[in-house]
Amino acid sequence: MDMSEEIELIPTRIGFWKLEKKLGGGSYGSVYLARHMIFSNKKRAVKVIPKNKKGKTFFTEKEAGKRLRHPRIIQLYKTDEDEANFYLFFEYFEGVDLMTYMRKMRDECFSEEEARLIVGQVMDALVYAHSQGVSHRDIKVDNIMINPYTLQVKLLDWGLSHVWDETDLGEGFCGSFGYMAPEVATPGTIYNSTLTDSFSLGCLFFELIVGELPFPKDRVDCVQSGYEHPEPK
Ligand SMILES: Nc1ncnc2c1ncn2[C@@H]1O[C@H](COP(=O)(O)OP(=O)(O)OP(=O)(O)O)[C@@H](O)[C@H]1O
Ligand SMILES: [Mg+2]
Repeated sequence: MDMSEEIELIPTRIGFWKLEKKLGGGSYGSVYLARHMIFSNKKRAVKVIPKNKKGKTFFTEKEAGKRLRHPRIIQLYKTDEDEANFYLFFEYFEGVDLMTYMRKMRDECFSEEEARLIVGQVMDALVYAHSQGVSHRDIKVDNIMINPYTLQVKLLDWGLSHVWDETDLGEGFCGSFGYMAPEVATPGTIYNSTLTDSFSLGCLFFELIVGELPFPKDRVDCVQSGYEHPEPK
């Protein structure tokens, strides 16, 4: 299916919600700003996942969303579906994602104090999520929203998360290169998904201060060898 066919399957409204503009999107779906047609000051961010794409991320994100209610986590309000798509209705965050924000900063990075403030908030969100049996598994700048004035942040995108009851032991190659722990990138390995979140958080901390990730993004062999080559910068 090409892009034009895909766009035609996105409705302009879902129930009382009118889709106004695209906020972002990636491999599994697109996120739109939606406004309530009667209570026009009510806004939502609606993630639209075409059913012919990876529907599994919808069910994972819905399961995670049901368990999570925290000031540093974008709240999932409800879900819906029609013949073509799954829909996730989230709290709308007036701000920008950290990836876009850092691109706009150009050569400047965050100071250590600012980075500590940001990472501390993500850590609060993760400690809470882990206490509810949810590991994020895709911590990265694109999945964190920031208010540029207050540096308050909120974590989003639980589509690859590990939702568990007894133990955080997980398996499967998932996440994003540059932030991925070696055991996640090594096929057949069972890993502690809460610990691999900590690994990714460490990479994020480095990136906020230095402006780039500690390990190369494009070398799966490097990740699998436990980052032996090259050395971190
Ligand atoms: N609640 C929200 N409020 C404002 N903007 C949002 C919200 N949720 C998502 N966005 C924007 O949409 C982008 C994509 O969101 P998200 O990561 O959930 O989607 P995705 O389809 O899983 O993307 P990817 O596959 O690249 O991870 C975010 O980086 C952000 O810019
Ligand atoms: Mg994302």
